[in-house]
Formats: sequence, structure tokens, C-alpha cells
Amino acid sequence: THAKVSLNTHRTIADISPLIFGGFAEHMGRCIYEGIYDPASPHADERGLRRDVIQALKETNYTIMRYPGGNFVSGYRWTDGIGPKADRPRRRALAWRSIETNQFGPHEFMEFAREIGTEPMWAVNLGTGSIQDAADLVEYMNLPVGTLYSDLRAQNGHAEPFGVKYWCLGNEMDGPWQIGQMDAVSYADKAVQAAKLMRWMDPTIKTIACGSSATSMPGYPDWDLTVLDRAYDHIDYFSMHHYAANPYPTISNTEGLPRDTDSYLASSILFEEHADTLAAAIRVAKAKNRSKKDVHLCWDEWNVWYRAKGGDGEWSEAPHILEEQYNLEDALVVATWLNTFLRKADVVKIACIAQIVNVIAPIMTNRDGLFKQTIFYPLTLFSNHARGYALDALVQAPLQETSRYGDVPQLDASASYDPTTGEGAVFLVNRSQTEPLTVSVCWEDVAPGAITRAWQMAGEDPLAANSFEQPDNVVAYELTAPRVDGRGVTVTLPPLSFTTYLT
Ligand code: AHR
Repeated sequence: THAKVSLNTHRTIADISPLIFGGFAEHMGRCIYEGIYDPASPHADERGLRRDVIQALKETNYTIMRYPGGNFVSGYRWTDGIGPKADRPRRRALAWRSIETNQFGPHEFMEFAREIGTEPMWAVNLGTGSIQDAADLVEYMNLPVGTLYSDLRAQNGHAEPFGVKYWCLGNEMDGPWQIGQMDAVSYADKAVQAAKLMRWMDPTIKTIACGSSATSMPGYPDWDLTVLDRAYDHIDYFSMHHYAANPYPTISNTEGLPRDTDSYLASSILFEEHADTLAAAIRVAKAKNRSKKDVHLCWDEWNVWYRAKGGDGEWSEAPHILEEQYNLEDALVVATWLNTFLRKADVVKIACIAQIVNVIAPIMTNRDGLFKQTIFYPLTLFSNHARGYALDALVQAPLQETSRYGDVPQLDASASYDPTTGEGAVFLVNRSQTEPLTVSVCWEDVAPGAITRAWQMAGEDPLAANSFEQPDNVVAYELTAPRVDGRGVTVTLPPLSFTTYLT
């Protein structure tokens, strides 16, 4: 079997927004406590931040970081997390049945964000929180001293405004599990009023409204159409959440169903459908509002999640919840997801993998150290090498049958080209479990002088995973770069593989 990928540096989709390589740090499970912040660990620095975690997060090079939730935020009082640590209250965090110590709060998060060089993206509480609380938080974070909350920030050690630019207007407000769930009209109206006040505080901020929590929600996509229509002029981005599972479709109803890896590896069909539907909803809302401005998609929760559940813990601090162990097939799905972001680069302008440490995350810690999960590798290869324009790659590939989606191309691909450096990248997933695939990559206009570097992740067992005992069982290893011959290269990709070529 043979496939062909044709590239042309002038056939572009759009600029790749750097903010699609974002993460999400929620106060849940062991993401913040025992993940990022763990003063008791031998790896902690003087601030309690885990040095080894910081190092691994820097490798991924997260460009934006959503915080502090997630479901957690819909019951969070941000004033709990400021001031002397000894005075901060312990609370029951209802979303995840856990005890929140508030030892990590806004100042600690900003310190952490600065340390890893990421742009903060703050979610306000629109569950139990009022529009006034949201505006007060913007004052606290962003305004020069001289009034109550900005003065309080200075009193707490930070005279300079933090300058948080990206603000999520609540989280998953359509979900029955959400503290303060609302219908679409009530949510849209509250989001508009919150956005108004927040922008009156700081006109430079960007706001993000909640889309449906999942495509499986009964209200999808009516919720999205309603919220977009009513809030269009007050928002800059519209959020989408999506979790993949084997078998599909959701985190809650896969139990007892047989695994279906061929269909699972074709999940990018669903990711594209989701993005296309919401991009269409945005166009409709723009027309209905007679608006001149564009709203873009903020895919601020995405990942594989279906095995490790949470929420029924015993009211402990940092419970072990949602600690998924990722395998090879999950890493390949993540790679096709990142391919999807490049193919949808014209509409998806922010994306945040959920989450960054321990909780459905690319790295897993214990007191003594950490290991990198399989999904760490595709994420880090994309975030370090997809730059400039997403190219509109023409892919001709053999089809393979899946029970869920019918025939799908065996090859899932994307490519980027940065005219400022002349560097390019090609990302290829062979989704067959059994068949190698010979691929000719052809550059139609400017053939690169050479493939400068190449990496591959592959294996025979889709369930192979990493662990503390076997941290390097499934990794991306560097390949000898293939030679460019004429206008391109011809390579053979093993079954179940993800390959990156840099030019
Ligand atoms: O990322 C885990 C949870 O998934 C988030 O708290 C919530 O927004 C979503 O349901």
C-alpha cells in the first residue's frame, strides 16, 4: 500500500496560532497539590514548586494555561486563595468531593505561570459567583493600585498588575454536574453581563464563552447556537470540550462495551465534525448579529479520558482521581488531534490539553519523581515544531474499514511551514494496526534541502504504556533522517505509528 502527501508552501490554511499548545491546571485531584505544588517533595524549590515537574512542563513549552478550573471554579471564592497562607480557609470543594487547603492561589499560580513562561487564562466563577465577583477579580489581577482590590493585591506582595488577558466566562454551565448549572439563555445573559463589567474594569481583556460540554450533550448544538447568538458581540472566543474514548462515545458509558481500536484511531473524524459544526454556528451568529468581528474557537479541554473516574472520593486533600495511564493508541489519537488543530488552524486559535499533571495528564508524579506518559511525546513534538502556516496537505491514501465510521484513510497527516525561518514540519500517523504504509511526501514548489531531524513512536501493542517501573516503554525515538530525492522523500511507516519530519 502506498500513500502520497503533496505540499505547497503557498497553499496554506492559516497562521498557526501559538496558543493552540496550551494546558489546563485545575484544583482537582493531584494536579495542583502533589503535582505542581508539593512543598513536602524532595524536588520542591523554596516556593514549593516541583522542579522536576517545571522542567517537564517547560519541555512541552505550553503557551497558555487555563486555571483554576474546570468544575472546581464554579464553587471557588477567589478571595480564599490570597493573603497569608496560615489564614486561608480549608473548604469542601463540592465539584470533586475534596478538601481545598487554598495554599495555592492566584499569586502562586502567577508565579508558576511566569516560571514556565506561559500566558495565564483565567476562568471566573459563574456558578455560585456573581458578576460583581468576576469584575472584582479583574480589578485584583489587572488594575493599577488605588482602589480596594488592586490595593489588596499590592498589600499581598504584588504592586504591579498581573495583566491577565484571557478570561473564561464560567465552565461547562450546561452540565447537570456543574455547580450552578443554567439553561442556555440564562447562561448567555449572565456571561454577557459579566463580560460587560469585566471589560469596563479592563477593556483590553479577551473573553471566552462556554460551548456545550460535549457533543453528546442533549442540548448540543442548540446551546451553542443560542449562546453565540446572544453573546456574540461580547466575546472573542467560544469554548469547546471533547474527550475521546475507546470505545466511543463518552467517558460515562464505555463500561462493558468491547474495545474498537480501528474506530478509536479514526476519532479525528469526530474532532473535525465538532470543529466544523461550531465554526458554522459562529458564522450564523456573526450574520444574525450583523457583526463585523470574528469569534474563534478555544478548544480548552481536549484529551483521551475514559478509564479513571472521579468525584466520589472521601473528602481528602489531593485525592487520586482521573489518573489515566496512557498507552500507544492514546498517543496516536492525541497525534491525530493535533493534526486536526493544524487542519482547522483557520478557526481553532486556542487549545488546552486537559490537564497537565497527574489528572488526565502527560506527566505523572509521586513523591520521588515523575514519568512521561505516551501522550507527552506527540504533544511535545507538535508544540516545539509546528510553526508559521498550517499547509493544506493533499493526502491520497488507501482506505481502511472501521465499524463506526465506514472507510477511513489509513494516513492522518498535517504540515506546517514557517516562512520567516524556512523551516517546515510534517506529522504523519499510520492508523493501521497491521499494515505498514509507504508514503511519498512531495513538495510541489520549494523542495527542502534536507530532512533535518525525524522522530517516531511505534509499536505492536496498542495497549503498551509507560509507568514508574517502565518509564521508557513507549517513547518517540529519533530516526536517521531520510534523504530528500528530487522533490521529496519516500518512507515506510510501520503500523500503529506517529512520525515527525523537520525540514
Ligand atoms: O478536566 C476534567 C473536568 O472535565 C473538568 O473539571 C470539567 O470542566 C470537565 O467536565
